[in-house]
Amino acid sequence: MNTHLGTAHGRVEVLGNHTDYNQGLVLAMGVEYATEVVGSNRTDERLFFKAKDLKESWEGNLQDLSPSPDKMWANYILGVLRGLKDRGIPLKGINLEVSSNLPMGAGLSSSAALTVATQRCLQKLWNFSLPPIEMAKISQESEHRYAGVKCGLLDPMTILHAKRDHLLLLDFRSLGVESIPFPSTATFIIAACGEKHALVDGEYNERRASCEEASRLLGVSSLREVTPDRLLASKGKLPDRIYRRALHVVGETDRVTSASSLLKKGDMAGFGKLLDESHESSRINFENSISPLDQLCESSKKSPGHLGARLSGGGFGGSTLHLIQAHRQTEFLATFQKEAARRLGHPIEFFVTRPSGSA
Ligand code: GLA
Repeated sequence: MNTHLGTAHGRVEVLGNHTDYNQGLVLAMGVEYATEVVGSNRTDERLFFKAKDLKESWEGNLQDLSPSPDKMWANYILGVLRGLKDRGIPLKGINLEVSSNLPMGAGLSSSAALTVATQRCLQKLWNFSLPPIEMAKISQESEHRYAGVKCGLLDPMTILHAKRDHLLLLDFRSLGVESIPFPSTATFIIAACGEKHALVDGEYNERRASCEEASRLLGVSSLREVTPDRLLASKGKLPDRIYRRALHVVGETDRVTSASSLLKKGDMAGFGKLLDESHESSRINFENSISPLDQLCESSKKSPGHLGARLSGGGFGGSTLHLIQAHRQTEFLATFQKEAARRLGHPIEFFVTRPSGSA
């Protein structure tokens, strides 16, 4: 039996929080950890999926691609099959086995890694190809229809374009992607706050709805059309909560523009300050932080070599991202671990990563 492998790395949002579905800018990168999907064709119309790490399996057939009530991981694969079917790709019976070393619910986009790895595996199995933007849309539709999360295109776009030792500057209005070299003087730490984020719980969709409401009240097609000055001038016209949501998103795109120039000049101290500002804006304006994420960022500020820290991804749990001076990594980690454990009341899980490539 011929088997084929599809691999996809996880991603980290470096700066540009909740800007993707507002047609804004994001700086992002791939991480070392990845998901693998191994598949083989069947001669019938049956579907057999296995999640190796969870020791779970799901089976069904091609005629029924409706969501599974209890196996979320299988839903992401079903969502991909549905997306391919909608695009006229003929589906066949398959056996798929998923394995991953990406922590689930830590904000590294294990779900988009699964949908991209599945697509890469199926392209080899069924001998077809699709442009990256179409692949990203299939991943996004899978989240929308099968997980109920109205996410943007950030996760699959980053996973598809990630480049070793580079940050990606993604523009969700033009859908353009630029890669910017990341210096060897700095590195990243990703720390899990210990609370799994559950985007499905409606907070994410509520934030998206608030941004759409802000655009409607401002008379624009998306918040990308609004400059910080214009937003300030409209302050009295928006309800306070809606204004603060918009302020975060408009501020984030502005910070990404500044951060990209600083990165090109190698000014990592200036870059880091923008990460700190981003977290503050999440905390106060977008209200998508929770106390453990704040504590991790505060612990970072007390550690030698800290350049900047912020929550990364949807928020409400998951991970924080810390930019540090590479030569002070050991000192940073010694203080950071101690300080964070003291504040959170338990040891923290973290890993060190530089920007990684796409598989
Ligand atoms: C999640 C979503 C992305 C993006 C981020 C927040 O990761 O899947 O589309 O909106 O949150 O920036």
